[in-house]
Amino acid sequence: MAVRFELLTTDPTGARAGILHTRRGSFPTPMFMPVATHAAFRHLGTEEVQETGASILLANTYHLMLRPGAEVFKRFGGIHPFMQWDGGILTDSGGFQIFSLPEDRLITEKGAHFRSFHDNSRQLLSPESSIAMQQAINSDIMMVLDVCIDSRTDEAGTREAMERTHRWAVRSLEAKTKHDTGQALFGIVQGGVYPNLRDESSAFLTKLPFDGFAIGGLAVGESKAERETMTARATASLPTDKPRYLMGVGTPTDLIEAVLRGVDMFDCIIPTKMAQQGYAYTFGGLVRISRTAYRLDDTPLDAECDCYVCKRYTRGYLQHLVRGRHHLGSRMLSVHNVRHYQKLMGRIRAGILSGTYDQVARELKAAIATPKD
Ligand code: GUN
Ligand code: ZN
Repeated sequence: MAVRFELLTTDPTGARAGILHTRRGSFPTPMFMPVATHAAFRHLGTEEVQETGASILLANTYHLMLRPGAEVFKRFGGIHPFMQWDGGILTDSGGFQIFSLPEDRLITEKGAHFRSFHDNSRQLLSPESSIAMQQAINSDIMMVLDVCIDSRTDEAGTREAMERTHRWAVRSLEAKTKHDTGQALFGIVQGGVYPNLRDESSAFLTKLPFDGFAIGGLAVGESKAERETMTARATASLPTDKPRYLMGVGTPTDLIEAVLRGVDMFDCIIPTKMAQQGYAYTFGGLVRISRTAYRLDDTPLDAECDCYVCKRYTRGYLQHLVRGRHHLGSRMLSVHNVRHYQKLMGRIRAGILSGTYDQVARELKAAIATPKD
């Protein structure tokens, strides 16, 4: 088994605490995976992210196949030594990216045909080539190539995308099995905002020997209520002994809600994207550091935080950096936000393990909702 999920507790709300055992170590869940799309974090060095306590990062097959390309990863012995990350690495398949490609792409049963935006060369991303690339990258957890569409697509269109996702999932599994490297492979449940399709997708995929299951096709145009309903619908029909990963979600509130619905793993660019826009997450709410009120503020960004930014620098200094558009400002807010997400997952997990997550979730949501501006 390439990964093994050890379920420690399911609390009365349905929230789960567990341990994901991988070939790079055993990591607590629920977990948040910071995003290093191009085998590099936005603004942050590998060491800085390691220091936040993150255990698994997410990288992207689509970007890495175009640059630097498979041969570079083969030459360097895979992504871990290449970027000096010794934790776990999960690669997304490229399924999400191929559907936002420019007009001249062609998506057929075989896969997605498109031209590289670097050198205009012809490219094919198929279930088989995605697996081959993820094997070259040598991530610990691979994802199947899927068909991700806008949530507002009608039922017939959503069914078509879901059925192709299923056929591609079978091909991905066959490609992996033919040349097994010991990497894990997760299936991706699709089905848009249609409960019957979500059920059908889970039923189909859970008959196959995947190491875990992702919930895809969310945070792509649906409402928060639809997202939460579909998350609950998907987790209800997934096996309890495999990890569940909600792709591309979300804000702290989204994570708190999804954990209540039985999700174990998350990734999102929000902590670094918000940092770039001058926002810091705290357990007392969102801080917009450019606010005039912080100009003379000599207190830390978040007195409860143990990141180096909060231990050494003031809100006044951070405001100076952000207002002056110094890269260092985005960088420091990113360090803090990524650390904050790890602390948030720690609090969530402690709540689940002590059987008080219901209350912890309510308190966290109330505190986060406190307006700071
Ligand atoms: N990231 C966010 N949503 C998705 C999805 O539906 N599929 C894939 N492959 N990646 C995603
Ligand atoms: Zn901090």
